[in-house]
Amino acid sequence: VLCWFYVYPVYRLPRDKDIVEEVLRQGEAWQKNQTGIDLYRKLLTECCDPKRMFAVTKENSPMGKVLWYDGEFYHSHTVNNETYSLFVQDNPLQLPLKKCAVVGNGGILRHSKCGRDIDQADFIMRCNLPPLSKEYVEDVGTRTHLVTANPSIIEKRFQNLLWSRKAFVDSMKVYGSSYIYMPAFSMKPGTDPSLRAYYALADTSSNLTMLFANPEFLRTVGKFWKARGVHAKRLSTGLFLVSLALGLCEEVTAYGFWPFSVGLDEQPVSHHYYDNILPYKWFHAMPEEFVQLWHLHKSGTLRMRVGHCP
Ligand code: CDP
Repeated sequence: VLCWFYVYPVYRLPRDKDIVEEVLRQGEAWQKNQTGIDLYRKLLTECCDPKRMFAVTKENSPMGKVLWYDGEFYHSHTVNNETYSLFVQDNPLQLPLKKCAVVGNGGILRHSKCGRDIDQADFIMRCNLPPLSKEYVEDVGTRTHLVTANPSIIEKRFQNLLWSRKAFVDSMKVYGSSYIYMPAFSMKPGTDPSLRAYYALADTSSNLTMLFANPEFLRTVGKFWKARGVHAKRLSTGLFLVSLALGLCEEVTAYGFWPFSVGLDEQPVSHHYYDNILPYKWFHAMPEEFVQLWHLHKSGTLRMRVGHCP
């Protein structure tokens, strides 16, 4: 009996070791390619219209509009009085953004000394409320303009904000006056924690501005990458942010994207720069995503920093 995998050739990802070799071959060489940058901005604008669609706004989501959850089937939220009042009027970013840094949470950042480099960007995006405490500053920097927050973090780290909201509000202070970008309408159970986070910040006159990720944008970006060989239940937060940056910024540098267990020096690398908790295996396809990002790096469309910063 022939098993299906003998009949259909399966696309195999290169092994970690092969990727390390490939990255080392390329070395630090990088040349910006304006044609590639313009092309990707055009492709992303056509598919996903990041300028208009990246957040839920009063302009793209008027009262009565049905927002379809992108993370599950057949669930929707109809914009009502209560939710409409929480949306920003329009895209609040000053466009075009010039130099953007997208900071993933990969362990490769540890001892990278990339903090200064990152902090020099005009617009800095980070994923999942990462720690920016003193011990990490040298490697990841201090400034933030947009930070994503998964509703599950609100549940786990802040007890769903049902008890004290002080710990949450206090720990948001490291992100200064940035935008906090939450997928409030991706999965139904994520809506309540996201709204609670909104109120916790609003009630304490926090400097942060809440932006809800537009589920339509998340869906179209997912499709964009699926057509380019990224097959996963869901894109990683980092790839969403890189896509957003490619659509909105003149120049993009990505840091902390390295979903492999060995580094360029063949030493073990932890999954995050702050811990080694691994993700659910089949949820994201980070190595596949990396291969795509590396193509963009090689073509000069964005710059990946995977080693030490000068
Ligand atoms: O929640 P999620 O698993 O997407 O992300 P995370 O672990 O908080 O890390 C933020 C982002 O950094 C991920 O979404 C990936 O895009 C990237 N990352 C990576 O490329 N390599 C790693 N070892 C860890 C994270």
